[in-house]
Amino acid sequence: MSKEHLIIFDTTMRDGEQSPGASMTREEKLRIARQLERMRVDVIEAGFPAASEGDFESVKAVASIIKDSTVCGLARANEHDVRRCGEAVKPASSPRVHTFIATSPIHMEKKLRMEPSQVIEQAVRAVKWAREYTDNIEFSPEDAGRSDSDFLCRILERVIAAGATTINIPDTVGYTFPEHFGKLIRALRERIPNSDKVVWSVHCHNDLGLAVANSLAAVLNGARQVECTVNGLGERAGNAALEEIVMAVRTRQDIFPCDTRIDSSQIVPASRLVSGVTGFPVQPNKAIVGANAFAHEAGIHQDGVIKSRDTYEIMRAEDVGWNANRLVLGKHSGRNAFRQRLQEIGIMLESEEALNVAFKRFKELADKKHEIFDEDLQALITEENLEQVENEHYRLVSLTAHSETGEQPFARLVVSEDGAERHAEARGSGPVDATFKAIESVVGSGAELLLYSVNNITTGTDSQGEVTVRLSKNGRIVNGQGADTDIVVASAKAYVNALNKLHSKVERINPQV
Ligand code: KIV
Ligand code: ZN
Repeated sequence: MSKEHLIIFDTTMRDGEQSPGASMTREEKLRIARQLERMRVDVIEAGFPAASEGDFESVKAVASIIKDSTVCGLARANEHDVRRCGEAVKPASSPRVHTFIATSPIHMEKKLRMEPSQVIEQAVRAVKWAREYTDNIEFSPEDAGRSDSDFLCRILERVIAAGATTINIPDTVGYTFPEHFGKLIRALRERIPNSDKVVWSVHCHNDLGLAVANSLAAVLNGARQVECTVNGLGERAGNAALEEIVMAVRTRQDIFPCDTRIDSSQIVPASRLVSGVTGFPVQPNKAIVGANAFAHEAGIHQDGVIKSRDTYEIMRAEDVGWNANRLVLGKHSGRNAFRQRLQEIGIMLESEEALNVAFKRFKELADKKHEIFDEDLQALITEENLEQVENEHYRLVSLTAHSETGEQPFARLVVSEDGAERHAEARGSGPVDATFKAIESVVGSGAELLLYSVNNITTGTDSQGEVTVRLSKNGRIVNGQGADTDIVVASAKAYVNALNKLHSKVERINPQV
């Protein structure tokens, strides 16, 4: 019997981006979008176009390049947001407008200050504005998990009649439980007279660690779209993790009447890309994509796996893409091989200059490190936005760091600010501390350092260190990344990268505000 299709709607670039510090540049979004398309995600929610000019342009850029996935934008249920969203997704081969308004008593009364009947009329109007741009319209009653089910039936019947084609039920605050949430989905489908005209979708937050369980309960009760994010990124405790939803459904085909079209071998590369771009590390014991997800430590387990894999393994590591890390290029690889490998892993550089800069960096890296892996190439491109190198306000020109037992470490460096070279030196408790103090002494940003983390990109002591620095200033939080075989240099690059993001002063609003 052929299975029904379960639509995977990825919101890494919209809800995921709402995690403090996870905001992405246009180029980062394009790279993630290409990876999501390669993974065969059905719908990519690329952003919230009304949030800022930058968000509008990013959604439009994603809509212009993606061919095999629907590209969606989010809009509050007001005319301005819906029209901005409609314009942003217009270039897509398959565009979708996703509009929402809160329906729980607490949100209607305290946030919207609207009567329930006004909320219904506003929702219907929003769907009608959206129809001027596309027939593919999703409507979400925000905070549905705490909304009255009779009221949900009333509003959803009206928006379906107005032309919504997908109804998404969000558990905005992660409050529901699998049994209740499953029953809610079933009840809405059974009670709303025109419910068969739409695809039912769910969007669960993970505040109680139940986002995946709630989403799967909904699927068992008729939902045929799940909204999720790579690595479970998202507001507060995050959203349902895409990799867990996809692999749960695929591994338990004995239970689920549906399956996704996801190419699961692209899951680990997607996880690494998102982690690299956002600077949010993946915990080692994270299901599917954690470094230990397929590691067997206990002797009794190892013995079992050697005798027969299925004694302790319910999935194969290679099926979710854990065969990465293979040698791809070396010192003698040429420009064409380099360009081709970048394309194979989803990195399309927009100009010849960008390719030249990247190739030069690749050669420098290959001089220091014999074997270059896919992860090194990803880092090489993530480390600095090659297309924007010329426009950077701050740039690390050179760095000397010294540490010696019994001596206080110091750093001496040159940073260019708008092209003008500035020299500095400082002492610190370690070479990284000294380096950051030296940079601050010339830049004087006054930003607060919220996070400093180092990961090795591949294995071995010649691996590149990938550093994430999270800075906060006046309520804005940014992440900077840097990679180098020398972790002090990687740290300096990450700090400078974060300063450039702070300097870019892109202001944006959160859809829920
Ligand atoms: O959590 C939520 O309610 C949302 C909606 C906008 C779908 O993100
Ligand atoms: Zn959400």
